[in-house]
Amino acid sequence: MDEWNKNKMTPKLAAFFQKQDSDVFLFAKGRVALYALLKAIGIGKGDEVICSGYTCVMVPSAPKFLGAVCRYADIDPQTYNISMHGLEKAYTHKVKAVIVQHTYGIAQNMDEIAAWAFDKGIPVIEDCCHAFGSRWKGQLCGTFGIGSFFSGQWNKPFSTGLGGILLVNDDEVLAEVQALYASILKPSDLEETRIGMQIRVYNALVNPRTVSIITRAYRMLSRMGLAIGSSSNDELAGEMPRDYFKSMAAAQIEEGTKNLANIDKLIAHRKTITGLYDRELANAGFQPLRQHKDADNVILRYPVRVADKKELLEKALKKGVEIGSWFEIPLHPEGTDMQKFGYTDGMCPEAEKACREVVNLPTHLKIDESEAVRVIDFLRRFARSV
Ligand SMILES: Cc1ncc(COP(=O)(O)O)c(C=O)c1O
Repeated sequence: MDEWNKNKMTPKLAAFFQKQDSDVFLFAKGRVALYALLKAIGIGKGDEVICSGYTCVMVPSAPKFLGAVCRYADIDPQTYNISMHGLEKAYTHKVKAVIVQHTYGIAQNMDEIAAWAFDKGIPVIEDCCHAFGSRWKGQLCGTFGIGSFFSGQWNKPFSTGLGGILLVNDDEVLAEVQALYASILKPSDLEETRIGMQIRVYNALVNPRTVSIITRAYRMLSRMGLAIGSSSNDELAGEMPRDYFKSMAAAQIEEGTKNLANIDKLIAHRKTITGLYDRELANAGFQPLRQHKDADNVILRYPVRVADKKELLEKALKKGVEIGSWFEIPLHPEGTDMQKFGYTDGMCPEAEKACREVVNLPTHLKIDESEAVRVIDFLRRFARSV
């Protein structure tokens, strides 16, 4: 075993994807895994990279930190994944890679993407930050592109507190990533302690009734530098933090290993709750998710379109009902100066419409069937379908 994969979690991840331990790398965050992959394939100044216009701003920040520019592809309004039309529109001869995001856990049609990318001669990178266990035609998302990255953030498919994973599917790229990983920063002792504490506090306090209010408080504390947040102020302003290229902390590996041990149960649970939402949403007059027959999705958050999103989210917060919002603007979170990342209003109309309309429902283990019914009852009482 090499230095970077001598830990308890890597073999479990490798086994899940039927890969070698040496194909898996652990990072401080998902975005850092993306950065490593982009750097390994030689993305740099003057290059362009296509990504979804319905994403977290930390996705375009990775190519930006390498001097490249992101071009945004609009989404398909049913799958929330990039559309072929959006892809064509975003393409220029400077595009050197495409990042395909399996939004909410909905597998992208990989046949279409692979054919398109082959034709253009560019590599595909999969953003699996929402998708762990989703499949396209029986094949696991994350195993199609030259590499894929995953997030272990609190609310992601399985949590490592914060954290990121890179899976490399190409031998040449692997050698480059190994070379880069040799110089990665390690979390300090203080960071190790803080992240371990945060994980314990999160596990003790967060439940479906408290999650929204605690998330608000956590964002405030991290903006003030009192908690290790998902994104620093520098990053949100488009600046690369000095200690960006960092590996995962031991406490995160511990947490991830524990959560991975339950992954089959978690996947089965998400499917049960998704089935419940499908039935109950239709009964309540909302549009259930339309899933492609070739996709076997593990839905992380179940998207529903409503006419009154902002008011609804406020009401859910007051009533302690776990309803979320990804994404409020094309480059989440709200308040991001999107122009700094090359996004201007009107670039991706379907994504912008989804930002105005879509709320999402939880499917994790703390949502049992009665809590899921409570979520639907809340929608029935307070939301209007679009
Ligand atoms: C689709 C998507 N990609 C990438 C990321 C970035 O992941 P991380 O916060 O682990 O860097 C996120 C985080 O919210 C995300 O939602």
